[in-house]
Amino acid sequence: MDYTNMTYDEACHYAPMEEPARQYFFMEYCKALLDKLKKAVGKDTLTFHIATFGCQMNSRDSEKLQGILESIGYVETDSEEADFVLYNTCTVRENANQRVYGRLGQLNNLKRKNPHMMISLCGCMMQEEEVVAKIRKSYRFVDIIFGTHNIFKLAELMAERLERDKMVVDIWEGTDTIVEDLPTDRKYPFKSGVNIMFGCNNFCSYCIVPYVRGRERSRSPKDIVAEIKKLADDGVVEIMLLGQNVNSYGKNLEEPVSFAQLLTQVDQIEGLERVRFMTSHPKDLSDELIEAMKHSSKVCRHIHLPLQSGSSNVLKAMNRSYTKEQYLELVDKIRAAMPDISLTTDIIVGFPGETEEDFLETLEVVKKVRFDSAFTFIYSKRTGTPAAKMECQISDEAVKNRFDRLLTEVQKISSEMCGRDEHTVQKVLVEEINDHAEGLLTGRLGNNTTVHFKGDSSLIGKIVNVYLDESKGFYYMGTLRP
Ligand code: SAH
Ligand code: SF4
Ligand code: F3S
Repeated sequence: MDYTNMTYDEACHYAPMEEPARQYFFMEYCKALLDKLKKAVGKDTLTFHIATFGCQMNSRDSEKLQGILESIGYVETDSEEADFVLYNTCTVRENANQRVYGRLGQLNNLKRKNPHMMISLCGCMMQEEEVVAKIRKSYRFVDIIFGTHNIFKLAELMAERLERDKMVVDIWEGTDTIVEDLPTDRKYPFKSGVNIMFGCNNFCSYCIVPYVRGRERSRSPKDIVAEIKKLADDGVVEIMLLGQNVNSYGKNLEEPVSFAQLLTQVDQIEGLERVRFMTSHPKDLSDELIEAMKHSSKVCRHIHLPLQSGSSNVLKAMNRSYTKEQYLELVDKIRAAMPDISLTTDIIVGFPGETEEDFLETLEVVKKVRFDSAFTFIYSKRTGTPAAKMECQISDEAVKNRFDRLLTEVQKISSEMCGRDEHTVQKVLVEEINDHAEGLLTGRLGNNTTVHFKGDSSLIGKIVNVYLDESKGFYYMGTLRP
């Protein structure tokens, strides 16, 4: 088909209705439009830059967006002085949003110097009406806005923007559609995230994710296994199965499959060496999963098990559906089955109504469980969530004080825990050259701890034996062993 002289309306007319064929059509169409643009501005190549905020879901989405941009003919660059800049945004806490607005101002300056530059915003923040209204009003130089449900449509939206001289906005409220088989470009050749489900049904009262990512949808085990086989054939040795609550995987499938059953299938894929998953909600972590992990040789001995609070009262107000005692029992059960397991967590300080006694219970759980590491967050009020309307929002001063005490405890314990494997030989996946010291490589243990050691860059992507000479608190210095 001759795309060169086709208008956008004609393209829409000829484009197939079914996906992903429709998007492949628009990729070809965009290619032709960009060739024209290159000639018009006198450039041989057009560059793109993606900035990703937020969690692994967004990182994986960015790899898909990158795959589409490269198929269209853009070339990646490190700098925001690019022809196409995309911010994949996060809105889980207020400070994530502020960072995006700050950086957008700077992008406008770049666009003044390079008028054909395109600026696009997508991701969780764009699913909020007020955000889109604000951008339409105060950031009119933005070219394309889309949300979390239609990232697969980037080529189609780009085609519209290239042909029409106005901001293109396409936000979906929700979706049942899961579009498979679009191009992706992985950040690392040897490891990859794999979405097993999208969205979340838990509605923890502080959390905006269910509103911006929609209801829970699982991919079929067949599609997941096929994707992982393809990745393994392409040299991937480590995968991370991604979902907001992987333990409820498969419940909405026509033929329900449990997460443990999926894990067992994935475990058998040849060529794969390590399997990780994130995130596990404590309320749904089954005995079946513990058994599946215990009997697997590939599933890493690491569970990220967000606690959020150690007080049963606060947990109830958070709608987490477990008590302090149930959490502690679960930890005991996991450790009894796998004594070498590494446990990490997320904790929120300053949830509305949190008393000093509630906070002390969080500290108590932290001391009892002894997490390998913990992400600690100050509660951030998110408009539209039930917690935003709760009375007794805590003063900044009290929250800061609790946060500092929690951080001190968490860091003390994690440096003690990190030392557990000192003076042993462990398997390490070599990930990159260490930028800070010459001749050093950086890799990760199965339990996710970082190790630095001397070695050659040809080892990147391989699993090697490393003797852990010394624990440095949250990482090791080691020596390569044959
Ligand atoms: N689905 C995952 C994580 C989602 S967001 C889970 O269930 O744990 C990652 C973390 O951000 C959460 O675990 C929580 O600790 C934190 N978080 C979410 N909303 C927050 C808010 N309003 N304020 C502060 N931290 C928040
Ligand atoms: Fe948010 Fe809770 Fe869903 Fe995690 S499980 S994404 S914290 S609502
Ligand atoms: Fe942020 Fe969206 Fe992830 S709000 S934490 S990027 S699901």
